[in-house]
Amino acid sequence: MHDYLEQSFSVKFEYRVHFTSGLFDITNTLLNDFLNDRKIEGIQQKILFVLDEGVAKSHPNLVDKINAYFDHFSTVKLAENIVLVPGGEKVKNHSYYNEFIINTINDYGIDRHSYLAAIGGGSVLDTAGLSAAVAHRGVKHIRIPTTVLSQNDSGVGVKNGVNFKSKKNFMGTFAPPAAVFNDDQFLTTLTDRDWRSGMSEAIKVALIKDGDFFNWLETNATDLSARDLPTMNYLIKRCAARHLEHIRSGDPFETGSARPLDFGHWSAHKLEQLTNFEVTHGEAVAMGIALDSVYSGLKGNISEDEVRRIIDLLLRLGFAITHPLMELQDESSPLLLGLNEFREHLGGRLTITLLTAIGKGQEVNEMDWLLLKKASEKLKALDAKVA
Ligand SMILES: NC(=O)c1ccc[n+]([C@@H]2O[C@H](COP(=O)([O-])OP(=O)(O)OC[C@H]3O[C@@H](n4cnc5c(N)ncnc54)[C@H](O)[C@@H]3O)[C@@H](O)[C@H]2O)c1
Ligand SMILES: [Zn+2]
Repeated sequence: MHDYLEQSFSVKFEYRVHFTSGLFDITNTLLNDFLNDRKIEGIQQKILFVLDEGVAKSHPNLVDKINAYFDHFSTVKLAENIVLVPGGEKVKNHSYYNEFIINTINDYGIDRHSYLAAIGGGSVLDTAGLSAAVAHRGVKHIRIPTTVLSQNDSGVGVKNGVNFKSKKNFMGTFAPPAAVFNDDQFLTTLTDRDWRSGMSEAIKVALIKDGDFFNWLETNATDLSARDLPTMNYLIKRCAARHLEHIRSGDPFETGSARPLDFGHWSAHKLEQLTNFEVTHGEAVAMGIALDSVYSGLKGNISEDEVRRIIDLLLRLGFAITHPLMELQDESSPLLLGLNEFREHLGGRLTITLLTAIGKGQEVNEMDWLLLKKASEKLKALDAKVA
């Protein structure tokens, strides 16, 4: 005999991505208003901050400002200490840091009504996001992204993850944040490298979803390279909006095999690993975009002129378009292992996004390695021309 009980329910997730300047200025009530709106009568809610060391170094007054903010507004109780963790991929590569944050959640008594707030680049947010998602099966998590990449992409979505056995984001969860606060003052202290790095995710989203945004990027490339903050704020907001739209309209927890937002990422993730993370995520994505765009051109899906525009934009923004490890000798070239790892990560069929126009992505289920070899040779030749 067979029998069953049916179970089905849905859970609604809602969060805001705020844009502000000087989040911890006493005159800025945005964060306190958020906490106040969610105050629970009779319960002393707490907030514990995890801070990226790179941010702490560049903003030496930040810890004092946070202390002063919570002295002034006493809506929630600030944990006695602000916890520092290293920035960059290091924090994702060593499981120690995830456990360390979980330990601090325990030490400071952060319960399910309290908050773990993380301030930092995508790497710190990914690690703290995972810690927050698993401690007590999920404490409320506030993200305060401090890089271009985390403000326009990684910090506004629903995923977290750390690396495992050098495999990117092998361990993580889908866990929407309680809120995201993008503060443009953080961007002023980024190195030129990190300022540039995050723009590749904007080019990516423009290429697969928003042709007008691509035109805008072309028009504003000079201001973006010159570190004009209002222009960067526009890029971040538009890119973040496209990401949020994608998440809510599609498959937020990625139950299918497709990952359209990962255009250019199959090779990027592998390149990061092969270079021992010396090439940053954003830089690797720029090269991955170049490779898959030239490949789309060789397949005849986009025109020569469109390929030229994409490569030109990447170069104008100061990105490298290829790397020696992107050269393919034969079918067992290390970069190509990235295709299989990408398939494994998604589960099921290999699904790669290519372009059919600037502003339009298309999923394919196989990649022709000989054509990929041609694409990487073409990129090398284009690169040599620029040098
Ligand atoms: N979860 C997701 O959906 C998702 C999406 C895209 C990327 N990511 C991940 O994001 C990570 C990359 O993040 P990233 O590009 O933000 O870089 P990052 O977090 O690696 O930080 C780069 C460096 O900048 C420093 N830094 C951060 N903010 C600063 C500031 N305001 N001033 C001065 N220095 C500052 C950091 O200390 C670090 O040294 C990758 O691990 C990538 O896989 C995650
Ligand atoms: Zn990415």
